[in-house]
Amino acid sequence: MVNVAVLGYGTVGSGIVEVIKENQDMVNQKAAAEIDVKYILDLRDFPGDKYEHLVVHDYEQILSDDSVDIICEAMGGVEPAYTFSKNALLKGKSVCTSNKELVAVHGPELLEIARQHNCSYLFEASVGGGIPIIRPINSSLTPEKIEAVTGILNGTTNYILTKMEKEGSDYEAVLKEAQEKGYAERNPEADIEGYDACRKIAILSSLAYGSTVNYEEVYTEGITKISTKDFKYMKELGATIKLLGMSKAEGGSCYAMVAPFVLFPSHPLYSVSDVFNGILVRGNMLGDTMYYGRGAGKLPTASAVVSDVIECARNIGRSVPCFWNPEKQALSDAADVKRRFFVRVSETDKAKIEDAFGSVEVIDAGLTDETGFITEVMCEKEYKEKAAQLTVVSMLRIEE
Ligand code: HSE
Repeated sequence: MVNVAVLGYGTVGSGIVEVIKENQDMVNQKAAAEIDVKYILDLRDFPGDKYEHLVVHDYEQILSDDSVDIICEAMGGVEPAYTFSKNALLKGKSVCTSNKELVAVHGPELLEIARQHNCSYLFEASVGGGIPIIRPINSSLTPEKIEAVTGILNGTTNYILTKMEKEGSDYEAVLKEAQEKGYAERNPEADIEGYDACRKIAILSSLAYGSTVNYEEVYTEGITKISTKDFKYMKELGATIKLLGMSKAEGGSCYAMVAPFVLFPSHPLYSVSDVFNGILVRGNMLGDTMYYGRGAGKLPTASAVVSDVIECARNIGRSVPCFWNPEKQALSDAADVKRRFFVRVSETDKAKIEDAFGSVEVIDAGLTDETGFITEVMCEKEYKEKAAQLTVVSMLRIEE
């Protein structure tokens, strides 16, 4: 028997219990052990809930129970999740989590504690919801030097952008829908300002390149400035807008950023819509691989946590290896990267625009009080110098 305690009985926590109970035979078979949910920790009571008898309010009860082998941390936020996870690992109890905030801040430290105490700290659900991405990077792509990771990493913003594009929907209404479906963070600012995607690209980059990418150093822009006018131009271009988290390792250094990008249909992530996430990983031998699936939501995220529970159950008394060195990865300036830019300016005189930018491709979206155009390839520093000569309404980077 392998006993599990679930910390937090919200969207993900209740999903974890549901996945284990619903697929109990399969879970036991794959774990080669009987997996039992012994406790659910929450501040609240759940009268009438099928599992209300498992609910406890005192973490010490779980920590001091030597029969508990695995903790599923689905509380979110850094504290008390950090202290609870650390204390569990110090006692040799493995921890499986969906908490990207905690993994981005304390991942290497918790991994080291797990190693020292012959247990595991696993976080498949922290990136890409139900998509297997942490385990593939950690075990399947091990012979590769990973050169780039590019992903649509936030389901809520992808849902919002898709609805804005396809249905011309109102931003606030779509956000409310995403919250009701259990996609959004408790504070949706983390989704729409790109902070959630930022933590996720920091985690993926740390695993991909081996040393720690500090999420606080990743240049981050959200989707709050995207308007229906932008999508009018995209329609003319046959393009779309996606919030991407990306990092590239080049010449011994690495850059990382999160921002909305213009994608054309030739890009593999162009068709990743709604709550779906897609992650492209480029290895030096393998080339591109892509991972796709539901990036948020109760059962997909819970399924990923339970996959970690099974992995821990298979490795009781051992630490599942994870290649994430606590040493800090120096990041180079993403503004040095060369690309084309989609720009909207208040000027309507093409000659004036070309005086500043040289040759541009003007897009006619039927808007008479502004001009939208695509620049030649240049780095962001150059773009800024040229843009300073005009009145810029908005700018989006183009990912080819
Ligand atoms: N709020 C997150 C998202 C949940 O929308 O992707 C999954 O991490």
